[in-house]
Amino acid sequence: MPVAGAIVEATLAWFDEHRRLLPWRESRDPYAIWVSEIMLQQTQVKTVIPYFHKWMATFPTVAALAAADEQAVLAMWQGLGYYRRCRQLLEGARFVARNGMPTSATGWREVPGVGPYTAGAIASIAFGEPAALVDGNVERVFARLTACPETGPKLNRQAWDWAQASVPAHRPGDWNQALMEIGATVCRPREADCPACPLRPACLAADGDPLAFPTTVPKKSPTLLQHETWIPICGGRLGVRQIPDGQWWEGMWEFPRTTDGTKLFPGQETWPLGSFRHTVTVHRITLAVNCVRLKSQSDELKWFGLDELAGLPMPAPQRKAVGLFQTAQKSLIDFE
Ligand code: ADE
Repeated sequence: MPVAGAIVEATLAWFDEHRRLLPWRESRDPYAIWVSEIMLQQTQVKTVIPYFHKWMATFPTVAALAAADEQAVLAMWQGLGYYRRCRQLLEGARFVARNGMPTSATGWREVPGVGPYTAGAIASIAFGEPAALVDGNVERVFARLTACPETGPKLNRQAWDWAQASVPAHRPGDWNQALMEIGATVCRPREADCPACPLRPACLAADGDPLAFPTTVPKKSPTLLQHETWIPICGGRLGVRQIPDGQWWEGMWEFPRTTDGTKLFPGQETWPLGSFRHTVTVHRITLAVNCVRLKSQSDELKWFGLDELAGLPMPAPQRKAVGLFQTAQKSLIDFE
């Protein structure tokens, strides 16, 4: 059942009053909205804001991004994680630069890396098309509003049907953002402020236990992985390699690393620097970090000074390995 007109109006009025002032909300530029929506997938608003500003200052238009070097683009994304999003944004920008900017949700779905959510966001916010969208927040709002007993793909499908039936022809972008905003600030995963919610008159869960929705599926336990890396030092420089295609973090730079327990640099002088955990989707990786002193700079690696390394795109755990190295260097290593 779609949301009744009076509740749509109350929700839009609520949004007018309570919307957070976010940099991408000052623009109807589809490119700016595209960038923000990709950054906001899997990343919190407060983390995204400085990245968004820096990105738009460096690549202010689709054409600027399309013409940029992949390494420069990856470096700009560094720290946001889930780099596939960045690579796809670049691929999408090159597609748009060649084929023109789509103006409808259907057109946007043709762009590499743009799924139904992002297409709905850009079409409704930038072009005023009554296109629906469902992200995790909207799905939760829907589940509570309708006391939906489903989980997983079934819940998601029903949420999309509901969202499509409910999106108003006037202010579709504001409606979609209002739903996401309610999910982020009122109808939160572990806390529901029902008295503050404009959807409350229509909500089937509000008078019972809103936190019981969406119903839960037991979580799969994470896969534990053991990785090991060696920081090669020689002549005041550190050796890194580019991560091959098809692996996590492809195209970025790392110290030689193994994922199957193999030891590198046998017979060389190595010493452990420490280890730490890092999570990628459902994988919990423990990365053990070592240092190894080499007699010559092998051609298989590229050799950089510590300050040059700062400008290279490196995965977060590798960046942390550099931090361990710097700490150790101060206390015990004769770097030269
Ligand atoms: N989360 C992702 N995009 C959003 C938007 N445009 N408004 C509110 N929350 C969001």
